[in-house]
Amino acid sequence: MLLSEMNKEQLAEFKADCEKKYAEAKAKNLKLDMSRGKPGADQLELSMPMLDILREGADFKSENGMDVRNYGVLSGIPEAKKLFAEMLGVKPEEVIVGGSSSLTLMFDAVQRAWNFGVPGGEKPWCKCDKVKFLCPVPGYDRHFSVTETFGIELVNVPMTKTGPDMDMVEKLVSEDESIKGIWCVPMYSNPDGITYSDETVKRFANLSPKAKDFRIFWDNAYCVHHLTDKPDTLLNLMDELKKTGKENMVYMFASTSKITFPGAGVAVMAASEENIQATLKILNFQAISYDKVNMLRHVRFFKNLDGINAHMEKHKKLLAPKFAAVLDTLDREVGDMGILDWVKPNGGYFISVNTLPGCAKRVVELCKEAGVVLTGAGATYPYKKDPEDRNIRIAPSYPPIEELQMAIDLFCLCVKLASAEKLLSE
Ligand SMILES: Cc1ncc(COP(=O)(O)O)c(C=O)c1O
Repeated sequence: MLLSEMNKEQLAEFKADCEKKYAEAKAKNLKLDMSRGKPGADQLELSMPMLDILREGADFKSENGMDVRNYGVLSGIPEAKKLFAEMLGVKPEEVIVGGSSSLTLMFDAVQRAWNFGVPGGEKPWCKCDKVKFLCPVPGYDRHFSVTETFGIELVNVPMTKTGPDMDMVEKLVSEDESIKGIWCVPMYSNPDGITYSDETVKRFANLSPKAKDFRIFWDNAYCVHHLTDKPDTLLNLMDELKKTGKENMVYMFASTSKITFPGAGVAVMAASEENIQATLKILNFQAISYDKVNMLRHVRFFKNLDGINAHMEKHKKLLAPKFAAVLDTLDREVGDMGILDWVKPNGGYFISVNTLPGCAKRVVELCKEAGVVLTGAGATYPYKKDPEDRNIRIAPSYPPIEELQMAIDLFCLCVKLASAEKLLSE
């Protein structure tokens, strides 16, 4: 039954029942965590054979004859550039295989633009009176923090089922020269799990920003992270941009953090050759070369994109039951109450839920008091300010499934309790 259709007496009774169950749950002294978008321990095991590939006596030569244990090739070994070019649908010349964190590559890209400017720009961003970035919301908190660190003003753009609100994006970038970029997670977005539609990608390719040094930060972190047998597909933005002659407008990013080892994987940046050359010119003062041993290990382990996809099938087998446990429980416990909505993702790492307005913080607080840690309410918005206090990001990957089930059961109870409190207070 819809909670909004209950009269005060029914609601009070419902709330009292929730409070009783909540007290019982609290007495269990749970210590559970649904806050971290980290692979589970079983997922990490999948990549352990990779660590045996390059041991003493192995062939450490890259296909260009270079010994990967030594300095050289700042942009990455050729076979790694080929592999990740295939994964991102670009040319090897359009790729830099960097360290182990794509977030570092993103931070560095903002930093270079800030200090030195980008091709097409008249001056470094730091010399502009004001710099703004568009932030599709809800979104990835660390993206927002990168730009916030530079004092860049963050502008919310609502997400729709097909990607960011493109009417708003088009209008804002065409009118405001201080808007220099937009953060995007185009496939299985963090946290909504939404994949941008073909039309959205085409509209990105056709943007006509007033700022000539505008950049789309296209973080394709979840491009191979499918959870179903009918995966989403994403139109190739680089191909579309080449049709409009605007290929300098995008910086693409990805990493193997959630393919092999977070923090010990391989990160990539892809961009037009002009952008790559401009990047390397400065990167050249920052590093002599990245970890090519790890690059070669990854290439020998996967061989090609088919190898990556086969490996991701194994991740899927471990992750899909966890996502199903959360989604089934949400459906069963609160599906017909009109107090929570969510998108069922076909991939990625998160389930994003929206409570009744003004309830997200309370739900997170109730969960915490009963021993279940969630990502802080508001974290999915710039400056951690969710204007409606509705969005919560659930990360089902890390806890073992028995713990996850207990955590999501408690979460549903807290949603019911917070919603009853709210409706009774109105
Ligand atoms: C959208 C997105 N991009 C980037 C990252 C971090 O990537 P990396 O480990 O390559 O720095 C995450 C991690 O959760 C993420 O969700």
